[in-house]
Amino acid sequence: MRKFLIAGNWKMNGTIDETKTLLSGLLAGSYDDTKADMLVCPPYTSLETASNMLQDSKIAVGGQDMSVHQKGAYTAEISATMLLTVGASFVILGHSERRQYHAESDQLVNAKAKAAIDAILTPIICVGETLDQREAGQTEQIIGMQIDGTLEGFSADMIKKSVIAYEPVWAIGTGKTATPEMAQDVHKFIRERVAGIDKDAAESVQILYGGSVKPDNAKDLLSQPDIDGALVGGAALKADDFLKIINAV
Ligand code: PGA
Repeated sequence: MRKFLIAGNWKMNGTIDETKTLLSGLLAGSYDDTKADMLVCPPYTSLETASNMLQDSKIAVGGQDMSVHQKGAYTAEISATMLLTVGASFVILGHSERRQYHAESDQLVNAKAKAAIDAILTPIICVGETLDQREAGQTEQIIGMQIDGTLEGFSADMIKKSVIAYEPVWAIGTGKTATPEMAQDVHKFIRERVAGIDKDAAESVQILYGGSVKPDNAKDLLSQPDIDGALVGGAALKADDFLKIINAV
């Protein structure tokens, strides 16, 4: 039985003060932590504040990206160890905004995911097709390539230590959500693809849906058999909305 994971990707939002306000709101709320885990991924500059505020709670903290390198002359980059030292236990990798604005490839995401697992950070590996690709009927071909590329060389154990997020690019920040059936079809496809590497690992790996998840569509999405949680952008910036989403599980 897979547990749900509701992850908030704050993107480039959250000064220290805003982080404190948002997290106070989350700490004042409640959810059933036997059914779902909550994760927040604030910007790097707020990670330590977040970890300190959340240390006595069940809410986990994660980074939004990390370098493939361990240390050295890589200006502005952040290593896995640096994330660990500020209390992160997860890291989002290969988000479509990283792929689009920073030309991140499946190969780079794969190398970063391996570095994360080595450092004992759980990678959330993101995949997703663009609108053009969906309209051209290429969704499965694209997602299949992204899964094969980002999980290249993974053992069953490495898959079990990872989370996958399906985020159709056309649904991110646009208010357009995949219907629960559309999302379920792709999640099932992803699980089958992962089963090609290892059946047990495919059964246990959490596959999150992301792209305009809101309180009013969360229940329908999260009730699909292969949707094990959500990666939430905009609605993760409002404590009430984020709590409603985790309580829709
Ligand atoms: P959104 O973002 O919920 O604002 O669409 C999701 C994401 O990019 O992870």
